[in-house]
Amino acid sequence: MAPSSQSSLAAKPLSEFSFPSPEVTASPYPFYEAMRAEAPVYKYPDRNDYLLARREDILFVFQHPEIFSNLTYLADPAQAGRVLASKPPGSVLLTNSVLSQSDPPEHAVKRRALRGLINPRYIHSCEQSLRRIANELIDGFIHRGEVELRSEFADKLAVLTICELAGFPPEDRDIFLSWHRIGTGHGARFLTPEQRALQGKDGPEQQAYIEKTIAARVKEPRDDFITEVIQDQIARDGELNLPYLTGTLRQILTAGNETTSRLLTTVMKLLIEHPDQLAKVVANRDLVPGAIDEALRFEAPTQWTSRLVMADTEIGGVQIPKGAFVFMLYGSANRDETWTDPDRFDIERPAVRELNMAFGGGIHRCLGSPIALAEGRLGLEIMLDRLKNPRFAPGCEDERENIDNFQKRVPKALHILFDAQ
Ligand code: HEM
Repeated sequence: MAPSSQSSLAAKPLSEFSFPSPEVTASPYPFYEAMRAEAPVYKYPDRNDYLLARREDILFVFQHPEIFSNLTYLADPAQAGRVLASKPPGSVLLTNSVLSQSDPPEHAVKRRALRGLINPRYIHSCEQSLRRIANELIDGFIHRGEVELRSEFADKLAVLTICELAGFPPEDRDIFLSWHRIGTGHGARFLTPEQRALQGKDGPEQQAYIEKTIAARVKEPRDDFITEVIQDQIARDGELNLPYLTGTLRQILTAGNETTSRLLTTVMKLLIEHPDQLAKVVANRDLVPGAIDEALRFEAPTQWTSRLVMADTEIGGVQIPKGAFVFMLYGSANRDETWTDPDRFDIERPAVRELNMAFGGGIHRCLGSPIALAEGRLGLEIMLDRLKNPRFAPGCEDERENIDNFQKRVPKALHILFDAQ
């Protein structure tokens, strides 16, 4: 293991941080460092929640899915009743819940059903189309010499990539982008009531849209991933399971678009903030994958996810009771003692991909990571090729603050200037 970093972001003790708070949302790293120094397994005051700040403790959770469950809905009796009642008669599925809210053995069945989306040959065969899409997006603003990169490029490339790979109609991209993308099942516990209301607002529309898409494919099958998932499910269970398919396709559509947008926006922000690193990758495109991996480490787009504890246990010498929640702070693990000089952004850092926790780990490791890595690499290559001498637009510092969400890392907006080619 590498020697621990001597850098110290934590200017104050853990007891002086409140969480979540605007200060921690703006930059969680001093809070994480205080936690690692004082209480790496930290009980959230007055709640049955435990925050895990170190890589090794998070690995323990990944290794024990029988203790740390993804059935987080069990903690909410009303929701639990609904989900558990949804076991389709005669199906190998236990419930209709989505992949990320499933445990073994049904998790493996649900995950296998989605493997077509991440077949490396298939992703490779789509690369030409993804390059064309990225170039067309840039064609739309290159003449201006300025762009708001998040909404005009990253959001659109991410959503169009999922359309291309899965078979959602690209002409509906503005519908997908209009849906509020605030939280997730895991993040909901830390949202304000207003954010929670917004998060639920688009649910019925999303549901109706996906149901309509499924009905259309049942009637007229196509050569695409959506059709494949529907046909596999019917072949396996004997009849169409609409709630399961709707949840699954909805998860692919939403999980696949916002996260990669955060990565593309963040990598450009980090490179502009670190001109020496930008100069290196401009001079040598072989460093693009390293820049993507390091951006994922340095500013994990999804800072944490959670598990429900199914049996009394112990982590790092702290007793954790059945019924508690553990929160795996990937953003903290990505800067813990595993790393040399962890608060330095270094696109040539060794072994980043192997140790990085930005995609989680264990059986629930991000299904879409091959897509995210391919899209990140292509997107960055094309940005570097076409947006020469990128720099922050003056007067936009406030917009570069993190969005108002502790779980997600991405600037609210990223206005940049460049020399058009
Ligand atoms: C930079 C981009 C991305 C990041 C940082 C990211 C992050 C994550 C993380 C941390 C998890 C693990 C959750 C947990 O263990 O609790 C996860 C799971 C998942 N991700 Fe991603 N993701 C990204 C892109 C994508 C894409 C493009 C897709 C597209 C299909 C996707 C689909 C999923 C799914 C379906 C799961 C659940 C896997 C399971 O439970 O077995 N993700 N992602």
